[in-house]
Amino acid sequence: MFKDPAANQLIKYKESSQGNIPLLRTGNGVRIANKTSSITVGPRGPILLQDNTLIDEMTHFNRERIPERVVHAKGAGAYGFFEVTHDITRYSKANIFSKIGKKTNIFVRFSTVAGELGSADTVRDPRGFAIKFYTEDGIWDLVGNNTPVFFIKDPLFFPSFIHTQKRNPVTHLKDADMFWDFATLRTEITHQLMILFSDRGIPDGYRHMNGYGSHTFKLVNCNNEVVYCKFHYKTDQGIKNLLDDKATHLASTDPDYAIRDLYNAIECKNYPSWTFYIQVMTIAQSETFKWNPFDITKIWPHADFPLIPVGTLVLNKNPDNYFNHVEQVAFNPAHMVPGIEPSPDKLLQGRLFGYGDAHRHRLGPNHLQLSVNCPFKMINQMINYQRDGLMTINNQGSGPNYYPNSFCGPEQYPAAHQSTFFLSGNADRYEPLNEDDFGQPSIFWRRVLNAEEKKRFVNNLVDHLKYASTFLIERAVCNFTHVDIELGQQLTNRLHQVGVRINFLGKLANL
Ligand code: NDP
Ligand code: HEM
Repeated sequence: MFKDPAANQLIKYKESSQGNIPLLRTGNGVRIANKTSSITVGPRGPILLQDNTLIDEMTHFNRERIPERVVHAKGAGAYGFFEVTHDITRYSKANIFSKIGKKTNIFVRFSTVAGELGSADTVRDPRGFAIKFYTEDGIWDLVGNNTPVFFIKDPLFFPSFIHTQKRNPVTHLKDADMFWDFATLRTEITHQLMILFSDRGIPDGYRHMNGYGSHTFKLVNCNNEVVYCKFHYKTDQGIKNLLDDKATHLASTDPDYAIRDLYNAIECKNYPSWTFYIQVMTIAQSETFKWNPFDITKIWPHADFPLIPVGTLVLNKNPDNYFNHVEQVAFNPAHMVPGIEPSPDKLLQGRLFGYGDAHRHRLGPNHLQLSVNCPFKMINQMINYQRDGLMTINNQGSGPNYYPNSFCGPEQYPAAHQSTFFLSGNADRYEPLNEDDFGQPSIFWRRVLNAEEKKRFVNNLVDHLKYASTFLIERAVCNFTHVDIELGQQLTNRLHQVGVRINFLGKLANL
């Protein structure tokens, strides 16, 4: 029977070891004489506590699991490079963009969002698409998704929103009422729902989907001139999605479909790539833009802000160990390099805090010393005055551990300063009023989806919505009728076809 590269991994290891078999040792390095029987009093036991071989083995095993990511727990990752193909130095002084042909090593992790570590890859869910750039100026993490928008725009909602995607705390089951209650009470979610229930809601593996930085960022050039920017990375493999039936079948027959697909493609040297673009908006344009340019539930139309090509992302190396690299990688939106800065986007501002905090819990205070997270060219150098803490790997040698000092400790580099910006205003909790939650979803429905895609969208949505309580179904249909009256009608018809009767006209009267 044909075995793909993933299934052949152990055979390959055996071949590469050329008969060299290492000696088996305990964690403290002592050779183990016998690995098949514990020390017992007589052949039938009991076991002696002095059997350190057994205790060493058992206690380490008990500690194999670390907390899984609270979101994006299931994923796949690979190494590769980013290569500049077009000059954007007029927008950004970031070293990574400094010249055409420049290559920078990257690590990418793809993921689903809501499921646990053992969940299926082929569910309807956004996909994470996070890139770690090991630049000469330090690590830049672009922690994006396969959708250009997000569900919420204020980080205060994130825990509640995620709870509605996870399990009901009483039943430990996914709960359609939780999902549709939140989704219909916060109408800014509509744009992301339009994409989630379209064909792109279930990509065919990770190679056939686009990625988006989603937020608005700032780019700063060497004259300290600032523009706002969005990042897009479009698949060179072509978009491919799974229809519901096939996805459901795969969820039971090959739940690790996307991990397997990525691993095998790279082992077969069929390296996936993406073309990397930016959209640019000047400060002046941001002041007159029809929508809030810092609202992550909105895109910037291509016609007004065309995609500007920058480079290529290529993935060409599978990690040699899943846990070391894919599980321990820690992406942090706060990791930016000179030339790339945050915008006022509220959700981004929340993320700038949230990820480092999550990593300190999940991996510990020294997670940046792990090889996959370590600034690429600085692995054994003294870089700052941080010392000690749980699981220290590199304690930065014998130099001073305080600043300022007279003993050749690391010095400041004034040229790395961030751009100056002016802020003023009354501090308050501002509700996002009149931010037009339905305008862009309408454009998506009317202009982007064709008739067949619309039909599948309605079926996909109803397949999920039908499990919610009737009052929530009615509220959802009402919201989607704000997107387009024909959409509201099609949803009602489809709901009737699957046996759900709602008072659509009654609700419509209130629109
Ligand atoms: P355009 O008419 O220039 O292009 C449509 C965009 O929609 C393309 O980027 C296309 O991606 C993408 N697309 C097609 N089908 C789907 C789908 N099922 N789910 C998600 N994206 C899809 O777009 P505009 O810039 O004028 O925006 C119109 C609408 O398109 C927006 O309201 C938004 O909903 C959607 N969109 C816009 C994006 C943007 O950044 N401007 C990005 C993605 C979606 P591709 O080219 O890869 O086929
Ligand atoms: C993972 C929080 C919004 C993309 C995570 C993790 C947390 C988190 C805590 C787990 C981190 C870890 O343990 O390693 C938040 C918060 C958000 C938010 C608080 C909003 C306030 C977003 C948005 C995107 C996104 C808007 C995409 C545009 C990702 C990705 C991962 C992730 C891709 C997985 C990273 C990996 O592969 O390790 N998020 N998130 N998140 N998030 Fe978010």
